[in-house]
Amino acid sequence: LKKSDVVHFILGERLHYPASSSPVRAFAATNIALCKYWGKRDSELNLPMTSSLSISLGDKGAITELSIHNKEDKVIVNGKEIPHDSTFYKRLIAFLDLFRSSRTIYFNIVIQVNIPIAAGLASSACGFASLVLALNQLFHWELSTKDLSILARLGSGSACRSIKSGFVEWHKGIETDGMDSYAAALPEIWPELYVGLLIFNKQEKNISSREAMQRTVNTSALYPAWLEKANQDLIAMKKAIQEKDFLQLGQIAESNALTMHALMLSAWPPISYFLPETLIAMQKIWELRKQGIPVYFTQDAGPHLKLLALQKNKTEVQSHFPSVEWVRVF
Ligand code: PMV
Repeated sequence: LKKSDVVHFILGERLHYPASSSPVRAFAATNIALCKYWGKRDSELNLPMTSSLSISLGDKGAITELSIHNKEDKVIVNGKEIPHDSTFYKRLIAFLDLFRSSRTIYFNIVIQVNIPIAAGLASSACGFASLVLALNQLFHWELSTKDLSILARLGSGSACRSIKSGFVEWHKGIETDGMDSYAAALPEIWPELYVGLLIFNKQEKNISSREAMQRTVNTSALYPAWLEKANQDLIAMKKAIQEKDFLQLGQIAESNALTMHALMLSAWPPISYFLPETLIAMQKIWELRKQGIPVYFTQDAGPHLKLLALQKNKTEVQSHFPSVEWVRVF
């Protein structure tokens, strides 16, 4: 199946709805996976091998302003026009092509992102999610959050979780058309929980998560073990969230992220998103825990760490990591 088949299935007649004449705006928070998505069962539809669980980062994310343009598609990200020959532009336009029946309408897309782009901080997740929310408004589709989540997944897998805030679970689904592979929010709220961004540099990553995932699935001898662990971690994490057991939550999240990176190290050619700074910070976090400070980390397809801590321990953690930027989640 192709992406366009899924779009037709979801939108049907709505594909021909006229666009609103005034610009629309939509915000989507970025999300950080606590139980990771790493590996696809269908790389066209971004269907995952496992379910995953994330936390949406409050006001950190993307605002997309969308309007109809007369001549050509124009994409502006954080004030800069994106060159038409860039991979990002092509990826975005290919996505937008799914939503116009002929090339008779053009879009003006203005995206403001308040997190570093393409550095493993899930900027594609909030970017595609906010774009889908904006399209939904521009064409008055009035889609359900389930359908919005499925459409966002076609842009970038993890984007399907950015449609919701708080704790979000992406159900992997088993259908070949992916109609049962979408994200839904968990009911729990946990106002004491904070995420700390530890950003080491603003460079773009050198290998995309898409390519890294594929290589891991194809070459890592550890991948079957990951499928098992991902499943167990998800069950245990949902329990930790229900019971507000921070130590459990932190431990599962950290172990899950480290296992994902171990998979990458065991792929061939090997993949590593670590910088020396990443490893130094990890050692420091383990040292702090030995001293009784409850702080954990997770890491995605980039060198940065995201710390997990409770509100009452923020100041103490900050004294060891002065550059940390705290994000209030709830
Ligand atoms: O959706 P993608 O292709 O950007 O991949 C996301 C991969 C991780 O961020 C590492 C894990 C996750 O679940 O978000």
